[in-house]
Amino acid sequence: MPSPTTAARRARTRPAGVPSPWQMFFTEFLKHPVMVGSIVPSSDKLIRKMLGRVDWDNTKVFVEYGPGVGTFCRPILDRMAPDATLIVIDTNPDFIRYLRHTITDPRFSAVLGSAADVEKIVADHGFESADYVLSGLPFSTLPPGVGPAIAAGTHSVLRSGGAFLVYQFSPKVKDFLTPHFESIDHDMEWWNVPPAQLYWAWKD
Ligand SMILES: C[S@@+](CC[C@H](N)C(=O)[O-])C[C@H]1O[C@@H](n2cnc3c(N)ncnc32)[C@H](O)[C@@H]1O
Repeated sequence: MPSPTTAARRARTRPAGVPSPWQMFFTEFLKHPVMVGSIVPSSDKLIRKMLGRVDWDNTKVFVEYGPGVGTFCRPILDRMAPDATLIVIDTNPDFIRYLRHTITDPRFSAVLGSAADVEKIVADHGFESADYVLSGLPFSTLPPGVGPAIAAGTHSVLRSGGAFLVYQFSPKVKDFLTPHFESIDHDMEWWNVPPAQLYWAWKD
């Protein structure tokens, strides 16, 4: 039986009947293994390393592709300015419904759609460009043509000096980035299941 303090904390973060992020993620992985592409959410270490290079003082529009259960959303909102906006895009309606139910921050917008439509989605929110775009998409298992379309659309929507932040299990994802981005930094995070390749592709 959880202590009254634990129960109160859970109630604050998750209404009764709403599954935990881990339960939700695993359920969706069983339903759509190819589209979800991972059996567990990203680790805290991966999140800290990936977001460590963001210039938060100059971030007004942050976009995330494939937020899943929102593993990155909360750390991004914690770092973002009060007048900034986080737009997340996912093709899975269950994840979008879950995010809208569990994250009520006014700076947060969860869109049901494809990352390939990022330019239209950002414009629909009233913005001309994005400062940063983060992707946890399983690039190598996306339908043919979708990966290149997402890379091209992302380069186009970013402001000069902004960056495309990509974490992926296979280094092959770099092949999608190099046609558009000249300056690409790389690192690895071993403390993740499985270990991940991290890329920061800068738009000059
Ligand atoms: C590996 S999971 C995300 C993991 C999550 N970001 C994390 O850090 O734990 C990949 C996500 O990409 C979404 N997805 C797949 N194809 C997509 C597309 N074309 N546009 C947007 N989201 C997509 C899936 O529904 C899934 O939520």
